Amino acid sequence: MNNTRRRFLQTSLLGGAAVAAGCSPEASTSREPEAKPWQPLRILILGGTGFIGPHMVREMLRRGHEVELFNRGRTDSELFPDIKLYKGDRDGGLDSLDGGEWDVVIDNSGYVPRHVENSARRLAPVISHYIYISTVSVYGDASRPVDEDTALGLLEDETVEEVTGETYGPLKALCEKRVLSEVGADRTTILRPTYICGPGDRTDRYTYWPVRTQRGGEMLWPGTPNDDIQIIDVRDLANFTVDCLEQTIIGVFNTCTPGGSFKMGDLMEDSLAVTASDMTPTWVSTDFLNEHEVRLPIWEDPAGEMAALLAVDGSRAVAAGLKNRPTRETARDTVAWWKTLPGDRTATIRAGLAPEREAELLALWAARNA
Ligand SMILES: NC(=O)c1ccc[n+]([C@@H]2O[C@H](COP(=O)([O-])OP(=O)(O)OC[C@H]3O[C@@H](n4cnc5c(N)ncnc54)[C@H](OP(=O)(O)O)[C@@H]3O)[C@@H](O)[C@H]2O)c1
Repeated sequence: MNNTRRRFLQTSLLGGAAVAAGCSPEASTSREPEAKPWQPLRILILGGTGFIGPHMVREMLRRGHEVELFNRGRTDSELFPDIKLYKGDRDGGLDSLDGGEWDVVIDNSGYVPRHVENSARRLAPVISHYIYISTVSVYGDASRPVDEDTALGLLEDETVEEVTGETYGPLKALCEKRVLSEVGADRTTILRPTYICGPGDRTDRYTYWPVRTQRGGEMLWPGTPNDDIQIIDVRDLANFTVDCLEQTIIGVFNTCTPGGSFKMGDLMEDSLAVTASDMTPTWVSTDFLNEHEVRLPIWEDPAGEMAALLAVDGSRAVAAGLKNRPTRETARDTVAWWKTLPGDRTATIRAGLAPEREAELLALWAARNA
C-alpha cells in the first residue's frame, strides 16, 4: 500500500466515523473545499468523457488530484489526451484495471447491476472510497415528498438488464445495493442527482427553455409560473463530488436545488434575462396538455404521479457542503455554451416542442379560449 493511500485511509476512517456519529462533515475538516488538498488523491473514473465526467475531471485537476479513466474509448476519446485511459467495457471487460490501485473510484456509468457488481467487487480491495452516481429516479414511492429514506423502486424481475424509461430507476436502485454489499456502507457515497443541466448537457431537457426563449415570439409554457421544478447544475454536482472524495463524505445524498425554491416562473425569468428576448409567454393549463398528450422536459403535472420527484428534499447534501449556484448563472452559461456548438448539433433541439407542434398547440389553445 502506498503512503498516499495509507494516509488517505486514516483520514477516511476518521471522516467516515465523524459522519456516522452525526457530526457535520464540515466539523471533520478545517479546509475550505476549494483549497488545494494537503495531498493529491489518485482517482479512477468509470466513464469520464460524457457530460458530467469532463466537469469532474477538470475540477479534480484544478484541485491538484491525479485522475485516470476507464471507458471503451468511444465517447469523445480525444478529450483528455494527457490522462491515462484503461480501455475496457464494463460488460465483462475490466481486465485493463488489473494491478491498479486508487484512493477513490467514481462510478458514472453504472446502469446495469451486474456491471456495477463486477466493478465494485474487483475494485473494493484496491480503493478506499467508492462514489456511485445514482439518480432521484430510484425512488419507488413518488406519492409523497421524497427524502433519502423514501422506499426505493423494485424490479419484478431482477435479471432484467434492458434500460428503459421504466426500468432505469429500479435498475439504478439495484446498482446502489450491489455497491453497498461489495464495498460496504462505510466506504460508499451515493449521489442521487435530479435533472443535471448546464454546459455540455446532451439531452437538451433544460437547455430547451432558454434556447427556445431566445428564438422569441409567443412561447408555450406549461401549467403555472408557480409550479415547482428542480435541477442540479453539472458544475455544482462536480464540485460536491470532489468535496465528497476530499473530505470523505460518506452516505446517501439527493443532489438538487432546494425543494420549493425554483419554479417554472423563475426558469422563464432566467431565460428572458440571459437572452434579452422579445418572447411572450402563454401559460397553458395542465388539463389541456394532458388532453393533447404533451410531455415537456423538466416540468411535471403537479397533480401527476411524478410530482413528488420535483419536490425532493436535498437538505442533507446542502448540510454536507453542496452549494447550488444561482439558477440564472446556469441559464447564462447554458446559452453561451449552446452558441459555441456547430450548426448540425443545434439545428434540431433534442427535447421540448418542435416549432410546428408548438404553433399548432398555441392555435388550439387560443381557439379554446376565444
Ligand atoms: N443526465 C441527467 O440528468 C442525470 C440525472 C440523474 C443521474 N444521472 C446519472 O449520471 C450518470 C451519467 O453521467 P455521464 O454519462 O454524463 O457520465 P460521463 O462519465 O461523463 O460519461 C459516461 C462515460 O461512460 C463510458 N461508458 C459508457 N458505457 C460504458 C461501458 N459499457 N463500459 C465502459 N465505459 C462506458 C463512456 O465512454 P465510452 O462510450 O467511450 O465507453 C463515457 O466516458 C449516470 O450514472 C446517470 O444515471 C444523470
